[in-house]
Amino acid sequence: MERIRITGGRVLAGNIRPAAAKNSVLPLLAASLLCAKPCVLRGVPRLSDVDASLALLRAVGANPVRRGPDILLPPATVCGQVPPALAGAMRGSVFYLAPLLVRSGTVEMPLPGGCRLGPRPIDIHLAGLSAMGAQITESDTAVILRREGPLQGVDFTLRLPSVGATLTLLMAAACARGETVLRGAACEPEIADTAAFLRKAGACIEGAGTPVIRVRGTEGLLPGGGVHLPLPDRIAAATYAAAVAVAGGRITVTHCRPGHLAPFLRFLRTAGCEVAAGPESFSIARDPDTPLWGGADLRTGAWPDFATDTAPLAAAVLLQAKGESHIHDALFQNRFACAEGFAAMGADVRAEGRDLWIGGGAELHAARVTAPDLRGGAALVLAALAGRGTGSVMDSGHIRRGYEDLPADLAALGARCTYVKTLSDATIKTAPAVQMR
Ligand code: EPU
Repeated sequence: MERIRITGGRVLAGNIRPAAAKNSVLPLLAASLLCAKPCVLRGVPRLSDVDASLALLRAVGANPVRRGPDILLPPATVCGQVPPALAGAMRGSVFYLAPLLVRSGTVEMPLPGGCRLGPRPIDIHLAGLSAMGAQITESDTAVILRREGPLQGVDFTLRLPSVGATLTLLMAAACARGETVLRGAACEPEIADTAAFLRKAGACIEGAGTPVIRVRGTEGLLPGGGVHLPLPDRIAAATYAAAVAVAGGRITVTHCRPGHLAPFLRFLRTAGCEVAAGPESFSIARDPDTPLWGGADLRTGAWPDFATDTAPLAAAVLLQAKGESHIHDALFQNRFACAEGFAAMGADVRAEGRDLWIGGGAELHAARVTAPDLRGGAALVLAALAGRGTGSVMDSGHIRRGYEDLPADLAALGARCTYVKTLSDATIKTAPAVQMR
């Protein structure tokens, strides 16, 4: 268990560059298995989900090598057995279904883990792969996929625009026999990024980033490899912007794609922040002595709507704003587990299923709270930037799944914020007299 110690009340200033997007890097690592030649991913952050992906790659027989910020992925012979601990460590393990099925003909995968945001079925991934000819056996805890001969191109309509399922089917289609048309596909920027990588390796893909994707399969491995710089992380960029909205100050987020977080920047502008966006950077400013306006009624949705991952960040911004606000998350049933931590800091909040109601006008104070998941944990850190006194966000590892060192990023902008090692559970058991602070 780690904790992040935050002393509120500091105004932020400076420039910051977001790392490469976790949700691009994870499918790209899996997609490298489809390439006959070596691949290199540039500028990959040291996230725990990346470490789990590298461990998974090694467990199936691949040999990824980290060289500073880059990851080299030489071609390798792989097997389709995914160890339960690695499958359960992250949602991103689902990205290995299609590549391992293509590569080894059989995949045995315990169900993927990840943030507990509510039920996260994989039925669309499986329906699409089944339509391409995979035989599927499911139990309560695992799934086994087999193919005889190459996967077949299909015309398949996703029942909802799942990001993960679109990536699974894109990877499968790239190596299938014949043409695939994916309809109702997710359009998030990470889809086009994965398609760009696959194209470098020889895939024929059109329409990635739109609801209809056409793929001409290579009937086997992609002939090439490639060097790829993944997209900048739009959710990390939104996190830094939200930090300024909460704490006040002025920062510039560089080397990012402001267009990828347009709904969030619009929200911050409406709340009273000054936002100036160019093609590859944006600045955001907020006077700490002037309260923001609440009264927001936000609803998350698939791209290009308000991103679900930014909903807890928006909530952190609205806690102190003047007026009541409401956020509805259309994607996940339990997006607002962070409400308990907000309330402990003095916020007037009520979470019920997919909805969060925020009374607004809170005078936040320091508290010791627990990160319930990745973005909820980040939102608690942000809220603490505005709290009186020194508080802690206890974290069993959620926040490092998506940010290499969020406290260090915020500290570089002037926040008083750092990771502090806490006593391990084992130490506490053997030495019960020692109090955790
Ligand atoms: N869904 C199904 N069946 C499926 C797949 C999805 O019912 O087969 C449902 C899900 O239960 C959910 C909705 O569809 O209600 C959307 O899920 P989607 O598949 O789009 O999300 P995901 O692939 O599981 C990725 C990101 C999430 C991000 C969502 C939405 C990764 C590893 N995760 O999840 O990121 O919130 O897309 O943009 O790429 C995070 O970074 O913390 C995170 C949770």
